[in-house]
Amino acid sequence: MNEENDGGGARSGVSRRNFVGGSLVAATVAPLLTGQAETAEAASAATVDGVTPVTVRAAVNGDPVTLRVDPRATLLDTLRERLDLKGTKKGCDRGQCGACTVHIDGRRVLSCLTLAATASGHQVTTIEGLADGDRLHPMQQAFVDHDGLQCGFCTPGQIMSAVAMVDNEGPARSDDEIRERMSGNICRCSAYPRIVDAIREAQQVMR
Ligand code: FES
Ligand code: FES
Repeated sequence: MNEENDGGGARSGVSRRNFVGGSLVAATVAPLLTGQAETAEAASAATVDGVTPVTVRAAVNGDPVTLRVDPRATLLDTLRERLDLKGTKKGCDRGQCGACTVHIDGRRVLSCLTLAATASGHQVTTIEGLADGDRLHPMQQAFVDHDGLQCGFCTPGQIMSAVAMVDNEGPARSDDEIRERMSGNICRCSAYPRIVDAIREAQQVMR
C-alpha cells in the first residue's frame, strides 16, 4: 500500500493516523473500569534512572487491566512484553510500516508511537481481540479467503488498519481509494493485490 509498489499515491499514511499524542490526551477518560474487577499485575516496573512508574488502567480486548509502566514505555512494547500479546508486530518501531497498528477506542493508532500511559481510561483492541469467539472478523476471514498474506508479518497491522478504516470512514469507493487509505501499512512481500481484494470484499460485509 505504498507508492513504491502499487502507485497508490504519496506515502503519507503516518500523518493520516490518529495518534494518541493528539487525540487521546485530550479525550475524556471514561470510567470504564468502575465496578469491574481489575486484573492487577503484581510486578510493577522498577524505578529506572529515577523515573517513577505510572499506573495505567485500560480495557485490553475487553478485559480490565491495571499495569505500572515506565512513562516512556510504548504501547507496543507493553502489549508484547508485559501482556504477552505478541500478535501486534514490531516492524520499523518508528512509525513507518504500520505493522504495530492497534485500535484505541475503535480508531487505528501506531502502537510504536503511542505511550502506554496515554491509553489509560481507554479501550485497546489488538488482533487477538478482533474475532468473536471462534468466528473470525469478516476482515480476517477475507484475508484468509483471498490469500492476502505471504509471510504474514504485516497481516495483523493490515487487518487492524483496514477494520478501523472501514468502521470510521466507511467503505472505500475504489481500489485506488483502498490503496490510498491503507498507504501507511507496508507489506515487504508485496501481497497488495490480494490485500486489496480482501478489503474490497470485507467492507461489503461490514456495512
Ligand atoms: S512498528 Fe510501528 S509503524 Fe512500524
Ligand atoms: S505478507 Fe509478508 S510483509 Fe506482508
